[in-house]
Amino acid sequence: MASIAFVFKVLCVSFLFIFVASRPTIRPKMFNVQRHGSKPDGKTDNANVFTSIWSRACKRKNGSSKIYVPKGTFYLSGVEFVGPCKNPIEFVIDGTLLAPANPSDIKQDTWINFRYINNLSISGSGTLDGQGKQSWPLNDCHKNPNCPKLAMTMGFAFVNNSNIKDITSLNSKMGHFNFFSVHYFNITGVSITAPGDSPNTDGIKMGSCSNMHISNTNIGTGDDCIAILSGTTNLDISNVKCGPGHGISVGSLGKNKDEKAVKNLTVRDVIFNGTSDGIRIKTWESSASKILVSNFVYENIQMIDVGKPINIDQKYCPHPPCEHEQKGESHVQIQDLKLKNIYGTSKNKVAMNLQCSKSFPCKNVELIDINIKNNGLEDSSSIAVCENVDGSVSGKMVPQHCIN
Ligand SMILES: *[C@@H]1O[C@H](CO)[C@@H](O)[C@H](O)[C@H]1NC(C)=O
Ligand SMILES: *[C@@H]1O[C@H](CO)[C@@H](O)[C@H](O)[C@H]1NC(C)=O
Ligand SMILES: *[C@@H]1O[C@H](CO)[C@@H](O)[C@H](O)[C@H]1NC(C)=O
Ligand SMILES: *[C@@H]1O[C@H](CO)[C@@H](O)[C@H](O)[C@H]1NC(C)=O
Ligand SMILES: *[C@@H]1O[C@H](CO)[C@@H](O)[C@H](O)[C@H]1NC(C)=O
Ligand SMILES: *[C@@H]1O[C@H](CO)[C@@H](O)[C@H](O)[C@H]1NC(C)=O
Repeated sequence: MASIAFVFKVLCVSFLFIFVASRPTIRPKMFNVQRHGSKPDGKTDNANVFTSIWSRACKRKNGSSKIYVPKGTFYLSGVEFVGPCKNPIEFVIDGTLLAPANPSDIKQDTWINFRYINNLSISGSGTLDGQGKQSWPLNDCHKNPNCPKLAMTMGFAFVNNSNIKDITSLNSKMGHFNFFSVHYFNITGVSITAPGDSPNTDGIKMGSCSNMHISNTNIGTGDDCIAILSGTTNLDISNVKCGPGHGISVGSLGKNKDEKAVKNLTVRDVIFNGTSDGIRIKTWESSASKILVSNFVYENIQMIDVGKPINIDQKYCPHPPCEHEQKGESHVQIQDLKLKNIYGTSKNKVAMNLQCSKSFPCKNVELIDINIKNNGLEDSSSIAVCENVDGSVSGKMVPQHCIN
């Protein structure tokens, strides 16, 4: 009996094995860009080949597709990848995508642009090289009305359930990654790099987006590491290193009509290293829209020689005088803001600036365990500045808080 049972068991296990092993594996159809006619010579324009590969992958009804960029340097003048597609698409970049050095050779706002797509996954060990160096000196729009338009590196608009993993973005002309109306999108393991003095090279910029996660990402640029604009909700940022750059900025908000609330932001386990700002919220001093900024948590944040580590500025006016100055105070309501375990060093004496609106004072600002010392040259102790703030304080407090 025992032996029959044993044989039976063996048979069952082998059948199970055969069944599992012989189940058809659903592999994506592979489109290697080089096998489909792209040239990795760094000078042939591959834009048309890439777009036609995209359209074949996107139209394919019979399962998912994988577009593969092997090692090598693929020059692209500018591409638009537009959906909707029939199935998920994987875009694996192991090589370098090279932008034109001359900015006028890109005939669109964004060098590589994705629109109306669901279930897109971009990954690989490759690099998006924006070749921004030649463009940065041309970035003088605040004084030159005929300034040339510079393209962002990679854009996503109306894209859902998608992600970017591991790739590197280097030396964008303007921003590196731009998101508009994107929902459920993960960014992880990405590196973003441009010199600290390169103008407007934001790392990740988003507006009208929800449920995005940014994690394990290194960002060093000449502008905001992450810029969070009108209408963004449920954004989660963790394990990010930022520097050089202007920090993680919410805003500027309130300048234009039809702006929407920014709600439910968490920023955890972040290091700001040598940035001009760290935690930053900026709203225009005279604002057209009355919106809410609420439910923000900043926790476990290290500041290393940061210019303005904590900076809420509701009198934002970068090129004074601001229009309609007489209109009065910002109408953006900031509330339910928690800052917990924020530590390190400040370059300026004012380590914590909570400058809220007189018409709409900040409500429920919770400070727990703040320890930011001044490493400046003149005076040893750091200070906090408060205007129109209501909230609570607990734990260690350096600088001495000023909430009443
Ligand atoms: C779709 O896939 C199935 C099995 O995976 C295959 O039998 C069929 O021929 C494919 N159809 C097309 C149009 O490729
Ligand atoms: C995307 O994935 C979702 C969930 O897995 C699925 O319902 C949807 O059909 C997919 N859409 C495309 C275009 O692949
Ligand atoms: C993406 O998600 C948003 C919000 O969940 C939804 O309104 C929109 O229709 C979705 N877009 C697509 C292309 O599925
Ligand atoms: C994003 O990450 C979360 C948490 O790790 C995961 O649950 C979700 O499926 C991911 N979504 C996409 C679109 O990659
Ligand atoms: C806040 O956003 C997170 C994702 O970052 C989400 O899991 C959570 O449900 C959101 N909370 C509310 C109240 O919407
Ligand atoms: C901060 O930046 C400096 C200068 O670039 C670098 O030497 C140092 O290792 C960085 N510290 C951390 C913790 O990343």
